[in-house]
Amino acid sequence: MDKMIVSGGRALRGEVRVSGAKNSALPILFSTILAEGAHKFTNLPNLKDIESTAELLASLGCICSRDGDIFSVTNKGINNFEAHYDLVRKMRASILCLGPLLARYGEAVVSMPGGCAIGSRPIDLHLDSMKALGAEIELREGYVMAKAKRLKGARILFESVTVGGTENLMMAATLAEGKTLIENAAKEPEIVDLAEYLISMGAKISGHGSSIIEIDGVEKLRAAEHRIIPDRIEAGTLLIAAAITHGDVTIQDCRPDHLEALLLKLKECGFQMQIGKTDIHIASQKTWKAVDITTAPFPLFPTDLQAQYMALMTAAEGTSVISETVFENRFMHVQELIRLGADISPKTRVAVVRGVKPGGLTGAPVMATDLRASACLVLAGLAAHGDTLINRIYHLDRGYEKLETKLSHLGGKINRVS
Ligand code: EPZ
Repeated sequence: MDKMIVSGGRALRGEVRVSGAKNSALPILFSTILAEGAHKFTNLPNLKDIESTAELLASLGCICSRDGDIFSVTNKGINNFEAHYDLVRKMRASILCLGPLLARYGEAVVSMPGGCAIGSRPIDLHLDSMKALGAEIELREGYVMAKAKRLKGARILFESVTVGGTENLMMAATLAEGKTLIENAAKEPEIVDLAEYLISMGAKISGHGSSIIEIDGVEKLRAAEHRIIPDRIEAGTLLIAAAITHGDVTIQDCRPDHLEALLLKLKECGFQMQIGKTDIHIASQKTWKAVDITTAPFPLFPTDLQAQYMALMTAAEGTSVISETVFENRFMHVQELIRLGADISPKTRVAVVRGVKPGGLTGAPVMATDLRASACLVLAGLAAHGDTLINRIYHLDRGYEKLETKLSHLGGKINRVS
């Protein structure tokens, strides 16, 4: 079981390049089920979740391979329509094979993903939208058994914003008969990136990035090529790593327009930043103000940066209130931060963070519980006085490509130990 030792107290300095977006790559990889041929992707990050997706696609009959920066998925026709529990339990985003399998082959047997540390993670909105397109859905022995002669376009209003639900429905609708209207659609940049890839495959989609997406079904799609957008959550994580260590860092190959909510909050905290088209420079800052956040769907403050921002607030001047409105249990990192000396009072979906004086955080052994919580503990470790040992660091490898290499390159002292 890999651990990570982070030695705090060193200001990060220099330039760092952001990798491709995990949460764009995953749905785009599943969209290859929709069309036979050789799909080619660049800027696709090398992550555990990508490996899990490649394993699942291989179990369905697609071959994945990486040659330098080109990641290929060769779909010679799917010969198995079952996404097995052993594969799905490793990565709950596997539910994203449901829409493509139903649309292209008329059947899918997908293990229900189950919950995770941050919440129950139901898939009712995914299943309701497949039913609205005419699919028969039965839940049996932990599996979603789905069938459809040919999906028919429909108007679907999501009662709450769902990124995965929007992605599953959008993929399914590309081959459905007639028009599909998705209302209250998610607007995340990853939705836009997926739509752009589907369009390059021949899909007819408009309105992506807004809350109303229109899809006109077509008979057939073809394999295409695509460059994955930069990972806005990695970019935000690296920016906060610079901020919390009083660093002076330039984040390169990112999309500042995908990070507006975080940039506004960091400015409110008092950080000085120069923002270009594809890079962000943050200047060293001795102290920063405590500023409240409330997480919500894009373009508001992303839930995937809540834990990292909380680490920053533990060393801020004053008290901040952090509200988590997207997931019901996304404060698993709070008790671990308290072990490092943070002063936090967590309630169900709100945490009050009282900033400790500079040097108030001291290194200690802590436990990573989920992907973004582990990133939060790395950031807190970089700011803490002394060494922080982070257990269960495999969570980090699911969503960050060589994070310790990037942070070490910036002067951070961070090592992986078995
Ligand atoms: C995606 O998860 C991301 N994962 C998550 O990132 C991210 O936190 C989340 O969107 C919100 O932005 C990927 O893209 C692979 P949702 P997803 O459906 O699609 C409820 C990370 O760290 N809901 O938008 O699962 C759900 O319980 C991960 O990279 C239903 O009730 O999120 C949650 O409360 C963590 N029924 C809310 O909606 C459903 O059928 C938002 O979930 C689906 C969702």
